[in-house]
Amino acid sequence: MKKIAILTSGGDAPGMNACIRSIVRYATTKNIEVLGFKRGYQGLIENDFEVLNFRSVGNILQLGGTILKTSRSEEFMTENGYKKALANLRKNKIEGLIVIGGDGSYKGAEKLADSGVKVIAIPASIDNDLYYTDYTIGFDSAVNTIIELTNNVRDTSLSHDRISVIEVMGAGCGDIALNVGIACGADQILVPEVKVDLNEVYRNIKSHYENGKKFSIIIVNEKFATAEEISSDLQNKVGLESRPLVVGHIQRGGSPSRIDRILATKFGVYAVDLLKNGETNKAIGVKAQKLITTDIEKALKGNRKFDIEAYRLAHSLTY
Ligand code: F6P
Repeated sequence: MKKIAILTSGGDAPGMNACIRSIVRYATTKNIEVLGFKRGYQGLIENDFEVLNFRSVGNILQLGGTILKTSRSEEFMTENGYKKALANLRKNKIEGLIVIGGDGSYKGAEKLADSGVKVIAIPASIDNDLYYTDYTIGFDSAVNTIIELTNNVRDTSLSHDRISVIEVMGAGCGDIALNVGIACGADQILVPEVKVDLNEVYRNIKSHYENGKKFSIIIVNEKFATAEEISSDLQNKVGLESRPLVVGHIQRGGSPSRIDRILATKFGVYAVDLLKNGETNKAIGVKAQKLITTDIEKALKGNRKFDIEAYRLAHSLTY
């Protein structure tokens, strides 16, 4: 194998750069040239790439975002766009492609694999929504960022005897909300995976208030409801002063955590080894701290199991 390509696609995630660095440095030591395509699949369509070497990936390990930039390319989903991307891979004599991204990016990777391109997919998304892997790159960093913000909000919430409703990302996956909720001792964690009677939730918060706990932290996943909705319900239905906070894209940026840096570094090396060994159409993951692979198609099929025990535990400790 002489030449491979990499791209980052979908929502950026802290640790993507650590992964790029690891792929480029490891592949280069194996005499494999690495082309980095820009803005995900869009760069493949436009043949927009740079040749990466030891030095071009220097000083990026600690940076959030992605030096290759990213996009959710709609053109790649069209027949014409897809054909252009495929033609450019062939024109550049690329023998293997590593896609770093989330479920949307995996769909593109699967399509390319079906056309005979050797593809390995690396999970990177703050959402942690792929069922086959314990962790995706970026999840740990995003959770840590929100924990820091929640600590700050708690100070002011406590001072004012107020409820803070904090809305976090995660799309349809409640892992970010759950982990932040446990780590911050939230009084209520609201996630799409668990149906709750909101009126009962509000009554519970009210009874805590009446028993002397004058502030509360509520973490809500963006798909469950908006912070604004929960906050105004609290004001209107049970008369408690409340403030909404939408964490937004702050949770997607910033320097990656130790865990994400190490995970991304290991995934990168593993992906190159898989390509070198002639593997294709595989998604990398980590299970019980061991690197694993599964077919990309399979990676996209299952539903992530929500950790309901952890959810219950968190709520059993709130008083
Ligand atoms: O998939 C990552 C993610 O941050 C989701 O949590 C969120 O719903 C979405 O991307 C936001 O997308 P955008 O950056 O396009 O607003």
